[in-house]
Amino acid sequence: MFHAVRTLSLVIALLASTLAQAQVAPEQYAPAIPPAQSVTAPNGMVVAQEQRAARIGIELLDRGGNAVDAAVAVGFALAVTYPRAGNLGGGGFMVIHLAKGHRDIAIDYRETAPAAATPTMFLDAQGNPDPAKSRDSGLAVGVPGTVAGLALAAKKYGSGKLSLAELIAPAIDLARNGVRVEDDIADSLPGAQARLKRWPSSAAIFINGDRVLQEGDRLIQLDLADTLQAIADNGPGAFYTGRIADEIAEAVDQAGGIMTAKDLADYKAVERPVVRGKYRGYDIVSMPPPSSGGVALIEMLNILEGYHLGALPREAALHDMIEAMKHAYADRAVYMGDPDFIKVPVAALTSKGYASSLRATIGARATPATNIRVGKPVESEGQNTTQFSVIDRDGNAVSNTYTLNFSYGLGLVADGTGVLLNNELDDFTAKPGTANAYGLVGFNKNLPGPSKRPLSSMTPTIVLKDGKPFLITGSPGGSRIITAVLQVISNVIDFHMPIDQAVSAPRLHNQWEPDKTFVEPGFDPKVLEALTARGQTIVPTAPHTDANSIEVTPDGYVGAADRRTRGSMAAGY
Ligand code: GLY
Repeated sequence: MFHAVRTLSLVIALLASTLAQAQVAPEQYAPAIPPAQSVTAPNGMVVAQEQRAARIGIELLDRGGNAVDAAVAVGFALAVTYPRAGNLGGGGFMVIHLAKGHRDIAIDYRETAPAAATPTMFLDAQGNPDPAKSRDSGLAVGVPGTVAGLALAAKKYGSGKLSLAELIAPAIDLARNGVRVEDDIADSLPGAQARLKRWPSSAAIFINGDRVLQEGDRLIQLDLADTLQAIADNGPGAFYTGRIADEIAEAVDQAGGIMTAKDLADYKAVERPVVRGKYRGYDIVSMPPPSSGGVALIEMLNILEGYHLGALPREAALHDMIEAMKHAYADRAVYMGDPDFIKVPVAALTSKGYASSLRATIGARATPATNIRVGKPVESEGQNTTQFSVIDRDGNAVSNTYTLNFSYGLGLVADGTGVLLNNELDDFTAKPGTANAYGLVGFNKNLPGPSKRPLSSMTPTIVLKDGKPFLITGSPGGSRIITAVLQVISNVIDFHMPIDQAVSAPRLHNQWEPDKTFVEPGFDPKVLEALTARGQTIVPTAPHTDANSIEVTPDGYVGAADRRTRGSMAAGY
């Protein structure tokens, strides 16, 4: 078998995990956040939230594939081995850096609303948002983009040495022969049981008798293997037209949705110009709208560039960071949506001048959310989820984040396809001024509409130094993704932490509304008291993000697998 043969023939340097050393500053590790698993290797690195998928990526690199080939293979493999977020039935974003010609590319394979979508589709009879519609029914399902996105990436930016079928083959093998239930699948299935149980097609795969599969059981997905085989044999058209598309449309219809087979046939993954920023001499390359991630990340970094974070008392640095977060998330709510339908002032929101004007409003005391002045950026003449990061020996790099929205999406497997469907359309604003499942408030710009893409927080990011990849990062975590990426970057650039420590360090999060700062375990209680004294509302929270990242160092590629969830792996060779 491919997997076994390759595993034997490779010298996959899954070099001994270096448990990260306790850091001096800014925070000590918290027992609640295990240290990142870290690997250094000279030729290539894949960091993903599931180890079998990470190894497949390395095997593809070793066979002569480039970073995009490996990323595509990991993307298909995670649909099998990490079904809570890896997917064929969802969507996402891929940011690529090509060493040749120093090109940066963003592939948008976000789900679209069906053609019959309307701005009021998620309201009840009284005109109030109805989460049962936007999260728990077929209405929540967006037209899946993953198959189109991965196929586009492979065709246009793959090495050309490996066919799409070769990139999908390992995933087919795992789906057909089954994978052992362990790590995060074992941890996540109990929480998804009630949602999966609603659909016999899902229960048949994930539930055995009256309980979900458990650690040590085997997850076999024969329909999914056939779907993957059809894509391998006939390309993405086999997913978007014909039997599989009909089955997906039928499943959505049965669940009360409005997606048609024509919506699937009409789906297109698109390339968009990346969003760019500069932070202390580094180039930040990230995802533009319909993700809010790249724009909000750069807006926060621009604000923070005005402070010498590393030299400030810790509570002052964190206070400034929290205030920057409030501004970026307020602007996200007001200004951002699908750029094919509304004008997002990307250049203005990411300009240094706009950041200076916001910084001028930041004082020593917390600004209540209601007083956050949503700026007036002026356009000058003249952007439960999983992240994987890949780099190859030539310096091609990929940062990819994709999702079904909730863990296991809607929980509905389209019968006969093995494809778990998303509930992504809850990322639209059901009614102006109301919040989605992540508490993210939105307004008119992100209302549902025909073929529109819902605003996302996914932030696949590549940081360049002298034009070459320096950091590859991103995270799952809904609204917390953007601030997780911000803190990984700041930990490395401002606090000179090695990537494993930067990933493991406790994180905090503020998203403007609610007016609270959520803090993971591990912050110094005295610092938190000082933040409270400044007027910040501090709320302890469990870890929610998983920033699987790579740093390019003089010693080689250093992969850091975030161990906030079990089973993440950095694999190098
Ligand atoms: N569904 C989470 C996001 O795209 O931000």
